[in-house]
Amino acid sequence: MNGYKASDHTAKAGVLVLAAGKGTRMYSSLPKVLHPLLDKPMIWYLLNTLNSIFAARTMVIGGHGFDQLKTALHEWNSLLIHQEQQLGTGHALQVAWPAVQEMDIDWLVVINGDTPLITDLHIQMLMEQVQKKDADIGFISLTLPEPGSYGRVLRGTDGEPEAVVEAKDFIASGRHFAEINEVNSGLYVFKTASVEKILFLLDADNQQKEYYITQLIALGLKKGLKVVAFNAGNCPELLGINTSGELLRQEEWVRARIVDRFIEQGVIIRARDSVRIGAEVEISPGAEITGPAEIFGKSTIASECKIKSHCFIEDSFIDKAQVFSFSHVVKSVIGKNVKIGPYARLRPGTTLHEGASAGNFVEIKNSTVGSGSKINHLSYIGDTQMGCSVNIGAGTITCNYDGRCKHKTIIEDRVFIGSNTALVAPVRVQRESMIGAGSTITRDVSPGSLSIARSRQKDMEGKNPLKTNKKE
Ligand code: UD1
Ligand code: CA
Repeated sequence: MNGYKASDHTAKAGVLVLAAGKGTRMYSSLPKVLHPLLDKPMIWYLLNTLNSIFAARTMVIGGHGFDQLKTALHEWNSLLIHQEQQLGTGHALQVAWPAVQEMDIDWLVVINGDTPLITDLHIQMLMEQVQKKDADIGFISLTLPEPGSYGRVLRGTDGEPEAVVEAKDFIASGRHFAEINEVNSGLYVFKTASVEKILFLLDADNQQKEYYITQLIALGLKKGLKVVAFNAGNCPELLGINTSGELLRQEEWVRARIVDRFIEQGVIIRARDSVRIGAEVEISPGAEITGPAEIFGKSTIASECKIKSHCFIEDSFIDKAQVFSFSHVVKSVIGKNVKIGPYARLRPGTTLHEGASAGNFVEIKNSTVGSGSKINHLSYIGDTQMGCSVNIGAGTITCNYDGRCKHKTIIEDRVFIGSNTALVAPVRVQRESMIGAGSTITRDVSPGSLSIARSRQKDMEGKNPLKTNKKE
């Protein structure tokens, strides 16, 4: 494939993803293609691959859970087609055909939506070979030790494919006594002008009473079309997902591949088998992660950042910081030399500037914390703008919600807040002021002042009701 240019073979080609099926064997109301692998629905992986080859010439046929699919695909530049009744994979192609014609393409690639890890190389190799051999239909086959529910590839004495027989029909025919290990992967390419002649000749005369796309192979040969099949061996990326077990097997495949890629690039990943990193995450060489850990979404982890075990990070930027065990960081920006956790929860909209810290049992939401400021124990900071070198005592709470609206708290540079303080927002604590422990602050605090808002201590000598008066 060296020197191969994708555009050579895909210029007048489009792609159709078959995603209308119910996914009965998943036992779930969610359309099968929306079941996640790591942090993305399985169809995301496929569309990500197809987008780079076919761009707007990408069609998806949906049916079961159509509206959910529509919502999930809104950010993709693909055409969604509705197969109202799911009468089989061949029927899906028939339903999509008017859209295919409108697209004015010479070649149509068809892929089962439940085979999400297919790579662009598989698609390009198939396109290239089919065009080189001047064939009308091409597909990729696999050789599996246990062919299970896959369609079996029957070849003639000349070694050329003759038909794909679905598992149920193969077994019903009694031919399973001579098991065939070569199966159909569900990745096809069709010359549109040729397949048009046979597409509407499909019948549902089979065990499942469905219109099979695979019947096009025998039908095409009968009508004088040229059919070629390329065997990809036991290629894990081409395996389909029909059951939860198969979903977990494919997820493990993609997980291990992502983790291994980062390790190769120089990221230290300890307990690698328990680290799950999403496909869009970026991690610089020199970062250190200890599993179990989950890092998802569009997260970026800088070099020398250390993430200890049991952390969950999503859509966050983390500079050269330390995230201690059991911390949860979502949609947050973490500066250099920041310390987080153990047991911290940073919710969306949190920014911690250089050298700041959010220690154990600290929750922060929609707040900015200036450089060097410390929130080390048992606090809730919400909708707050905090300056530099602030010290927040243990148990400090910003009371940001009055039952109707959220209000802002401003804490300026070098403020010292004593333990167990309640800051009733909206409130501003101005620079270099100090608040006595146990205060409930309801008014702004002026710069440099000491503010105490708590009831005075009374000492009543000899009044302890639990202490007896009897002489000992
Ligand atoms: C299919 C192939 C089989 C192949 C296997 C590879 C057929 C008849 N069989 O079997 O030869 O070995 O894939 O993984 O094609 N779909 C629709 N509309 C429908 C029915 C299905 O869009 O009316 C979609 C499904 O959502 C799925 C794909 O087509 O993504 C394949 O259907 P599925 O029922 O999973 O076929 P398999 O039995 O796996
Ligand atoms: Ca399948």
